[in-house]
Amino acid sequence: MKVAVFGSGTMGSGIAQVFATYGHNVIMIDIDKKILENALNNIRKSLNKLYEKKAIKESPETIISRINIGDDPGYSSGADFIIEAIVEKEELKIELFKKLDKLHDKNVIFATNTSSISITKLASATSRPDKFVGMHFFNPVPLMKLVEVVRGERTSDETVNYVYDLAKSLEKIPVKVQDYPGFVANRILMPLINEAILSLSEGVATAEDIDQVAKYGLNHPMGPLELADLIGLDVCLDIMNVLYKDLGDPKYAPAPLLKRMVAAGKLGRKTGEGFYKYNK
Ligand code: NAI
Repeated sequence: MKVAVFGSGTMGSGIAQVFATYGHNVIMIDIDKKILENALNNIRKSLNKLYEKKAIKESPETIISRINIGDDPGYSSGADFIIEAIVEKEELKIELFKKLDKLHDKNVIFATNTSSISITKLASATSRPDKFVGMHFFNPVPLMKLVEVVRGERTSDETVNYVYDLAKSLEKIPVKVQDYPGFVANRILMPLINEAILSLSEGVATAEDIDQVAKYGLNHPMGPLELADLIGLDVCLDIMNVLYKDLGDPKYAPAPLLKRMVAAGKLGRKTGEGFYKYNK
């Protein structure tokens, strides 16, 4: 199958890698040529590591040879399946899907990897809302097993089942979820992180101790504050804002400390400082 992946950042490059690993021909499209080149390098590094660990059978070069790159949506012509992982900006995603709707045959399924934008809203920008679905991978895509298959208001059973089976064929563990703010994973995770930030700002315990509690008392692999630093505090704040606005319940109000840290540019690992300090 020919798969077109839009966006070659953190998620798009991982998604392209996984599809190519499972034998699909991939066209990875980004507006930024430099990011595309970096993405190919990152994919190569990741495949080399997996090959050393014997986690993949084919050579990295064979897998990479299935990935082509391009900087224009036109390169996706002839694709059998489209997955979008561009920046989390509703207007940009809508603009792209409108273009793609004109370019592609009516039978081609469109999937989006959005974490927080309504699938139904994005689907409405196209003339194929029945063939539009959320396919929400987790970071890092080659390692994380879960895929939330998100059903928009008008997504057909056939489309949901197709993407569910497709995720299984990539050796992922798919779950079917409704188009609801935060779907399931972020609806559970982000309030946990937010509560940890509230506990910190109320002086209940230090950041280190809050993370110890989650790791050794709740058996989480990472503490919520170190995880927030890894995800990016700006991303956490954006998702809390979506939950707060769209579910309309004050229990989702983002912690003032989270807002203050984002305003100060303390975004976690990517800026060298969040709840912890990092060497850039
Ligand atoms: P990123 O910022 O690393 O990559 C986004 C890429 O999209 C950039 O390379 C940018 O140049 C490109 N882009 C922007 N407009 C474009 C267009 N019109 N056509 C083609 N490429 C375009 O972002 P990231 O983190 O990979 O996120 C992508 C999507 O995945 C977002 O919707 C996000 O919500 C979702 N997501 C992110 C997760 C994460 O942990 N980072 C986890 C699950 C979903």
